[in-house]
Amino acid sequence: MAKKKVEEVKELEEFEELEIAESSPSSSSKKKEKEIKTLEDLPGVGPATAEKLREAGYDSIEAIAVASPLELKEIAGISEGAALKIIQAAREAANIGTFMRADEYMEKRKTIGRISTGSKALDKLLGGGIETQAITEVFGEFGSGKTQLAHTLAVMVQKPPEEGGLGGSVIWIDTENTFRPERIRQIAEARGLDPDETLKNIYVARAFNSNHQMLLVEKAEEIIKEKASTDRPVKLLVVDSLMAHFRSEYVGRGTLAERQQKLAKHLSDLHRLADLYDIAVFVTNQVQAKPDAFFGDPTRPVGGHILAHSATLRIYLRKGKAGKRVARLIDSPHLPEGEAVFRITEKGVED
Ligand code: GTP
Ligand code: MG
Repeated sequence: MAKKKVEEVKELEEFEELEIAESSPSSSSKKKEKEIKTLEDLPGVGPATAEKLREAGYDSIEAIAVASPLELKEIAGISEGAALKIIQAAREAANIGTFMRADEYMEKRKTIGRISTGSKALDKLLGGGIETQAITEVFGEFGSGKTQLAHTLAVMVQKPPEEGGLGGSVIWIDTENTFRPERIRQIAEARGLDPDETLKNIYVARAFNSNHQMLLVEKAEEIIKEKASTDRPVKLLVVDSLMAHFRSEYVGRGTLAERQQKLAKHLSDLHRLADLYDIAVFVTNQVQAKPDAFFGDPTRPVGGHILAHSATLRIYLRKGKAGKRVARLIDSPHLPEGEAVFRITEKGVED
């Protein structure tokens, strides 16, 4: 990966030189004033170029923002300099990598809510539960408890703050048809909540493919807005599983770039919702089934570097002895590394 970074930097440097050589007082200055909403608003992108880009899967400003100049050059048949200009404009418009004053940042962090996982040990590992305004990714092999943890969170978030919840509603995007209302009822009952009321606060949609999954995030915003001013705002958004469709639809090396573009857009949409509406986004991810493909690290989730840098917190789950489950934090920026052991019972996840 380090090697790839170096290559990318090299690439950019080359293009920067080209940019200077090619730059001329063009019509782009006029366009810059305008708000960039669609691909056609980007400097030098007309309807024909926009169509080529969309056909190749670059269908949003965010997707362009993380593209490489070389890719755009080839797809749209434009010069590298022009491609770089487009990418730079998209980056500014997509608000990728902007700054915030540290005191404002700290104020914002104070408003972060936490949802208990149902296990004290796991909560402790997470510094109190999973956070709003963030994406938490849980990854692990089949049966490691990812979906069960999501079910438990969907119940716990409905509890009042003094009991580990946020008094919130839930949006659940289900890609593998593993959401079970019966299980929600069971966990709610075991934890002293009205099972019928608990179900009423969960909005479920089945995603049939990756495009549909992305569309559902847009739809989710409608519900989120609607509920925002009620006494049950949406506080948890589950995507179970994040990668299943992406993984089955984009097979082979040639499609990887396209997949990563889409995934970047999808994650950027999720981040936006988490940030804007103070929601905890919880996504599940499978571990690659072929550990031999990696060098001694079977714990690498699918999704590659875009996902790795996008999730705010990553939890690795594995099966332990006697039906126990073990959670470990991976690459956490502000929590110490450690492990927590929990069980899956009629209460969902517990110590
Ligand atoms: P994949 O989606 O296949 O990758 O797995 P996952 O990580 O989502 O696993 P999941 O959360 O579905 O965990 C499945 C395990 O949870 C099962 O092997 C059971 O041990 C346990 N489990 C599932 N449902 C129940 C239940 O109703 N009661 C209890 N006690 N345990 C359950
Ligand atoms: Mg599952």
